[in-house]
Amino acid sequence: MTSTAAHNHEAPEHLPPIFRWHEMQQRAALDPDAHWMDLAMRLAWFTAPTEALNAAGRWFDGGKLNACYNAVDRHLEMRGDQLALIWQGESPEEKRELTYRALHREVCRMANVLMRFGVKEGDRVAIHLPAIAEGVIAMLACARIGAIHMVLFGGFSAEAIADRIADADAKLIITADVGRRGPKRVPFKKTIDAALTHLPPDQIDTILVMSVTHEDVPMQEGRDHLLAPLISAAPDTLPCVTRDANDPLFLLYTSGSTGKPKGVIHGTGGYLTWASFTQNVVFDHREGDIFWCTADLGWITGHSYVAYGPLCNGGTILIYEGMPSYPDPGQWWRVIEKYRVTSFYTSPTVIRALMREGDDVPGACDLNSLRVLGSVGEPISREAWEWFYRVIGRNRCHVVDTWWQTETGGIMISPVPGIVEGEPSAATLPLPGIDAVLLGADGREIKGEGEGVLCMRRPWPGRALSIWKNDALFQKIYLAPYPGYYFTGDGARRDGNGHYWITGRVDDVINVSGHRIGSAEIEDVLADDRDIAECAAIGIPHPMKGQAVVVFIVPRDTARADMLPEHARQIVSRRIGRYAVPEHIYVVHDLPKTRSGKNVRRLLRKIASGEKDGFGDLSTLSDPECIERLLEATPM
Ligand code: PRX
Repeated sequence: MTSTAAHNHEAPEHLPPIFRWHEMQQRAALDPDAHWMDLAMRLAWFTAPTEALNAAGRWFDGGKLNACYNAVDRHLEMRGDQLALIWQGESPEEKRELTYRALHREVCRMANVLMRFGVKEGDRVAIHLPAIAEGVIAMLACARIGAIHMVLFGGFSAEAIADRIADADAKLIITADVGRRGPKRVPFKKTIDAALTHLPPDQIDTILVMSVTHEDVPMQEGRDHLLAPLISAAPDTLPCVTRDANDPLFLLYTSGSTGKPKGVIHGTGGYLTWASFTQNVVFDHREGDIFWCTADLGWITGHSYVAYGPLCNGGTILIYEGMPSYPDPGQWWRVIEKYRVTSFYTSPTVIRALMREGDDVPGACDLNSLRVLGSVGEPISREAWEWFYRVIGRNRCHVVDTWWQTETGGIMISPVPGIVEGEPSAATLPLPGIDAVLLGADGREIKGEGEGVLCMRRPWPGRALSIWKNDALFQKIYLAPYPGYYFTGDGARRDGNGHYWITGRVDDVINVSGHRIGSAEIEDVLADDRDIAECAAIGIPHPMKGQAVVVFIVPRDTARADMLPEHARQIVSRRIGRYAVPEHIYVVHDLPKTRSGKNVRRLLRKIASGEKDGFGDLSTLSDPECIERLLEATPM
């Protein structure tokens, strides 16, 4: 195990014996099942499992538990009066603090409301909320009654929401009147109403609406209900249902390189084990920690590290509703100062944006409470890492660049404070039990130093169970490409110390500000349009967003070419969401294709990045001249 000497941090001796790292690593290597069972014992089980992974590929089979019990009820006796959740709005007066006891009451009330509207175990409940406490409360309420939550990101368009609701066959939606993004109002309820116009009339029975600003929103008699009065009137106790370890806890839709977004299913026992273990070790979780993960609840980071991980460990979570730079760029640093935040987990996009504001802004705040700084979702440059370490961490905090994915449930490759120190831009080492490998072009494992496709050999408890209603697709995407391995879709390099450096996606997934967008997702919605004959979406490097989407369009009728870029932007915004709108759209005569008719994305990426030559061997193209025409059509 390596530990860079540049840091002088204490080893986390306060941690219980299970966290004696070297022993754990050895145990994980020699007897993985025993290691996984050790980790599972972190949870409170109604019936403890007797084995880790069985022959049918099921984790902790026979074990029975409830995720809400683990996140809330189990803490009532020891820490009922400790803060579980702090919510802070944009103005300092807008705040809410819930102890574990209060959170328990709120969750029971919400769960009683859901039951009253007929939600049963196994039903899917859609949650589309801004960053308010009710987001976490709604997730936990679903878990309490065994309903499967599916949180929908606030930035999705009405059509994207409709697609997901239809796929999951949800009957009830929890939403808000509006959300607040700086000076703007985001119309949550109106977006849901618009989504419903794309769905069969009997799809949704109930919409529960949280009033955030008490905006006047249209309410349909019999179907739409204001949530707050229902919650106040509901009983504040309700027993937890008993769930099997492999019962689904939630669905989360994510984009891949092909087709529509897929409903990734996470189970209960394995997922929770992994979320709680990883939050504990990667953030060196201690009593009294105030944990602020800035992710939207609609992404996996929000599930594992806003909600389930820290709450399972009895931490205090902070939810902030507002943008990093509004009303001024000091806003988030003042939140850290005000609540004495100890652990701050955010994305490189946020770090880059705040870095641009200069060192004086955070310099004016007391950030001494910080102990661990985390980054996730996209590669972090050396410059941004060093700024985070120096200016925010004041050269004394651990920086953990955590690599993982929606499908992995929790962090997989990451520094561990006091044990594996971070270095700029390196994800460093897999956590104990995580069996990362690099595969070469021939599909063989690369030993020692080298670069290849990042795969996982042995399964781990946090791995998604499947894709909703499509297990064959799960097998095809993740398990078939390299038989015997889980395929991550990322490339990585391993250095002489065995440390991993993520090099980015090897498939056609574009990562814009940490938002995962399938190129096929964009191409499919554009190709449906009658003005567009053909198109290709690619990602190119972008200084602020990490990557930006660039689209090449071949018009059906060149006379209408001028209106196409704006038209295409509107289509993407309407059908996917504003976050996916292309940065540049080029209307071109044709696309570079192989003789078998496949788009050659490698060339499009080069052209979109402004390269004028060095295109390599063009003899495989059906029409090599097309490159000249493309260069003319894309002046940069
Ligand atoms: O390409 C990797 C990138 O984000 C992808 C996963 O996206 P998503 O499922 O939306 O989950 C994001 C939050 C876990 C990965 O395949 N990625 C994630 N973390 C890192 C990263 N790339 C580089 N460094 C990271 N730390």
